[in-house]
Amino acid sequence: MQRTLRVFRFQPGKDEKPHYDEFTIEVQPAWTVLDALNAIKWHHDGTLTFRRSCRHGICGSCAMMINGKNELACEKQLKTIKGVVVVEPMKEYAVLRDLMVDMEPFFEKLRLVKPWLINHTAPPTDKERLQSPEERKILDGTWECILCGACTSSCPAFWDNESFLGPAALLRAFRYVGDTRDEGLSERADILDSKIGVWRCHSIFNCVEACPKSLNPTWGIMSLRNKLLREKI
Ligand code: SF4
Ligand code: FES
Repeated sequence: MQRTLRVFRFQPGKDEKPHYDEFTIEVQPAWTVLDALNAIKWHHDGTLTFRRSCRHGICGSCAMMINGKNELACEKQLKTIKGVVVVEPMKEYAVLRDLMVDMEPFFEKLRLVKPWLINHTAPPTDKERLQSPEERKILDGTWECILCGACTSSCPAFWDNESFLGPAALLRAFRYVGDTRDEGLSERADILDSKIGVWRCHSIFNCVEACPKSLNPTWGIMSLRNKLLREKI
């Protein structure tokens, strides 16, 4: 069976402006969009540039816009798309080349929320710091994030102000602030409670719509607001 892919192409510094290339290729019924992009790269145009690694929806590196929606190319089955498959880079990140965007500002925001366990009172240990099953359950819906960046790219508050930490960094902040072993809320409050923090979210829920892991970053942001307000009281 043949499918046509219309692929965004742009090489900053060389191309004056972006354009699209169309490839009509032979595909297998079970192929994903990533399989098709690999086939293009390996057999038609070796210069096509995109990120991928795990091929199993785990690493987050193949997030891109497929027919207008952020998706993981390795999970998006071709058979779920009718007609031409339009593949573009995620919006709002600078294009490095073709479908590959600059994720460094995204990871810089992540670093700002101190995404690690902070605990200055528990004695040092070389064993695990245990939790009850109930305490562990609070973290469900946070730890599954694969940092693909699809939510932040889809967020109108981020479009409006690119300094906004964005849904992914804030969900990751709640992964630690919500952890019963963590004592770092006050250390993180400077950034979470700032002009680029939780209050910039307008609850538009684009992040929920965009997340390929069916997570709810808006819930994480609201939970952080509650924690910050309780800390102030
Ligand atoms: Fe990707 Fe979802 Fe994590 Fe956002 S919350 S970075 S969309 S996995
Ligand atoms: Fe790892 Fe798609 S290649 S998530």
